[in-house]
Amino acid sequence: MENKGYLIYEVGILGGNDKVKTNLFVLFVLKRRKIMNIEDIRKEIEKEIDAVKDLKELNELHVKYLSKKGIITELNSHIKDVPNDKKKEFGMEVNSLRTYFNENYERLRDKFEEELLNSKLESETIDISLPSTKVSMGSPNILEKLIEEVEEVFMSMGYDVVDGPEVEEDKYNFEMLNIPKGHPARDAQDTFYIEGEEILLRSQTSPVQVRTMLKGKGEVPVRVICPGKTYRRDDDDATHSHQFMQIEGLLVDKDISLADLKGTIDVIVKKLFGKDVETRFRPSYYQFTEPSVEVDISCFNCKGKGCNICKHTGWITIAGAGMVHPNVLRMSGYDPDIWSGFAFGFGAERMAMLKYDINDLRVFYNTDLREVKNFDRGEISNND
Ligand code: DAH
Repeated sequence: MENKGYLIYEVGILGGNDKVKTNLFVLFVLKRRKIMNIEDIRKEIEKEIDAVKDLKELNELHVKYLSKKGIITELNSHIKDVPNDKKKEFGMEVNSLRTYFNENYERLRDKFEEELLNSKLESETIDISLPSTKVSMGSPNILEKLIEEVEEVFMSMGYDVVDGPEVEEDKYNFEMLNIPKGHPARDAQDTFYIEGEEILLRSQTSPVQVRTMLKGKGEVPVRVICPGKTYRRDDDDATHSHQFMQIEGLLVDKDISLADLKGTIDVIVKKLFGKDVETRFRPSYYQFTEPSVEVDISCFNCKGKGCNICKHTGWITIAGAGMVHPNVLRMSGYDPDIWSGFAFGFGAERMAMLKYDINDLRVFYNTDLREVKNFDRGEISNND
């Protein structure tokens, strides 16, 4: 009984005894020096498996049975000691014991791991009833919004929206618009010069008229609007800014008259300021249009009765416009005997100030969120 090998051998012989059931032939000395057969071991496993409560205990069982010195491992290592005629049977018994243990071990391991995961998920769930952290959504820049609105109206009338450079040549900003060097009209449009006297920051968006016509090569009708930044050497105050925005428009085709201009302006005015608002033209002077007009609208605030917005005249000036001067058409490659057209230029800030009742132009540019927030008319839903 000292030696396991001996014992197994002896038991192997015992297994041959009629009184002893086949599965009893496998006897083994456990560490406790207790003699057991496979059936007993299986029963013990069964009891232990039933009692196991968590992963830790399960792993202890694994150590007990399947580690290097585990019971099943040890049984396995003694297959070689069993008499030949019983070896196969013994081997099968050990294998089925191992399978039995492993199946139960895996089943319980999966069960405990799932339980662990579930309890983790439970303790870590997000409480959606808590108020969220507020994120300020902001709102579109009011000038940008106005420009987009104007663009949409003109696009619906078949206009293209085009762009031009802000750093411009004197040639396009003045000369080809019929304002030669030394012309007194240049004084009112003094701007910033980049290189000598030829390269400047554009003082108006009108040079885009010239650039667009040059592309049309005197052959294609033109129908564009061009919103963009412009610059002048002005001191900033409530109604002036060294940088501001204009929305230029140009239409060149055959048989275009002042009536077409009036009808077009009327559409945009009614869209922006209301159906009842009327348009009137006053004679004016620009070098690149002939005739030239100032575009006035009836005061949308007092309906013509007279108020602060219209300075008690009942009318508000919102744009300069006119029929494209024959010289300008010719310089840009369009034959004025065949082609005619109209042009207009809106001041974007002025329109936005009127539309949104703003009395200081500087708020468009001073990025003070408290002021910008005042313009938020809730078009973009804000979650606060
Ligand atoms: N460019 C002019 C200015 O800045 C505005 C203007 C007037 C544009 C008449 C036009 C126009 O296209 O026809 O003062």
